[in-house]
Amino acid sequence: MTRWNTSHIPDQTGRSAVVTGANSGIGYVTARELARRGARVVLACRNEARGGAALDRLRSEVPTAEAEFRPLDLADLASVRHFAASLDDFAGDRLDLLINNAGVMALPYRTTADGFEMQFGTNHLGHFALTGLLLPRLLATPGARVVTVSSFLHALADLDHDDLNSERSYRRWIAYARSKSANLLFVHELARRLAAAGSQVLAAAAHPGYAATNLQTAGLRMEGRSAAERVIELSNRFLAQSPDGGALGTLCAATAPHMRPDAFIGPRAGLRGAPAPSFRAPWTRKDANGERLWAASEQLTGVRYDFS
Ligand SMILES: NC(=O)c1ccc[n+]([C@@H]2O[C@H](COP(=O)([O-])OP(=O)(O)OC[C@H]3O[C@@H](n4cnc5c(N)ncnc54)[C@H](OP(=O)(O)O)[C@@H]3O)[C@@H](O)[C@H]2O)c1
Repeated sequence: MTRWNTSHIPDQTGRSAVVTGANSGIGYVTARELARRGARVVLACRNEARGGAALDRLRSEVPTAEAEFRPLDLADLASVRHFAASLDDFAGDRLDLLINNAGVMALPYRTTADGFEMQFGTNHLGHFALTGLLLPRLLATPGARVVTVSSFLHALADLDHDDLNSERSYRRWIAYARSKSANLLFVHELARRLAAAGSQVLAAAAHPGYAATNLQTAGLRMEGRSAAERVIELSNRFLAQSPDGGALGTLCAATAPHMRPDAFIGPRAGLRGAPAPSFRAPWTRKDANGERLWAASEQLTGVRYDFS
């Protein structure tokens, strides 16, 4: 059997997609490949210069692309609300694909504009709010999907539901793992709630294995740890797969027919390789945990999901 690759992406003409963090790494590749197949794509990025540069690059690599940049800072709920409201003139009241890709990893302790720990706030809460605000469009679009990018590192730590924002103690890798467990628990609970509402919208998750991107060095750069940065760059060069390889799981979850709700798609071989269903920690499938995270996320973001 042929291993799934980008040539398997079905025609996306007439479909619309939002990709968060699309200026870099696997988000860029995801946006580019969806555009190559005919989707209209919004590159939702926090920095105007980087978003604009990515758009130029995408248009040079795919001259037929229908793509645009729109500002979105997931670490600022006002920006998330502004972005969601601004989509009216993009795709009317429809949206076929929402790709919750943007992320930060193992940062020194920082907080978002709303005071949440940065990794939980960006990776989970920002995407929770964005998905809730875009839900009416997704519900109105036959065949719509929401794909959220997690990590194999989620398996390092379950959430601490009593300390979601790491106020009692902060360990950067544990906080990253928890934010990625939150991504999976969110997908699990979203899939459950969509099914209960009788909706055909598909919620799935993906991970890239280990792909050489800016993710591994961004935190080190913040602290000026240039020696560590050089070591990571070497590791990226020799051990990681390309961002193109890393994006396959996301693209497969977003476009392959017969995807299961709550699927978690990543490289078959763990860190690299063709997409396949991946291992996930048992705590990312517990209904009670999902309900608890959902209630806390609605309360923290002020975004209430309306499935009607
Ligand atoms: N690369 C890997 O090996 C790996 C492994 C497991 C999971 N992942 C996951 O894959 C996803 C993509 O990461 P990547 O590897 O492609 O890294 P990347 O190249 O650093 O891309 C991350 C993207 O997220 C954006 N972003 C960060 N904070 C944001 C915010 N507040 N608002 C909007 N956008 C924001 C970044 O924008 P800027 O360019 O402005 O910083 C960038 O576009 C992440 O969710 C990550 O956790 C990656």
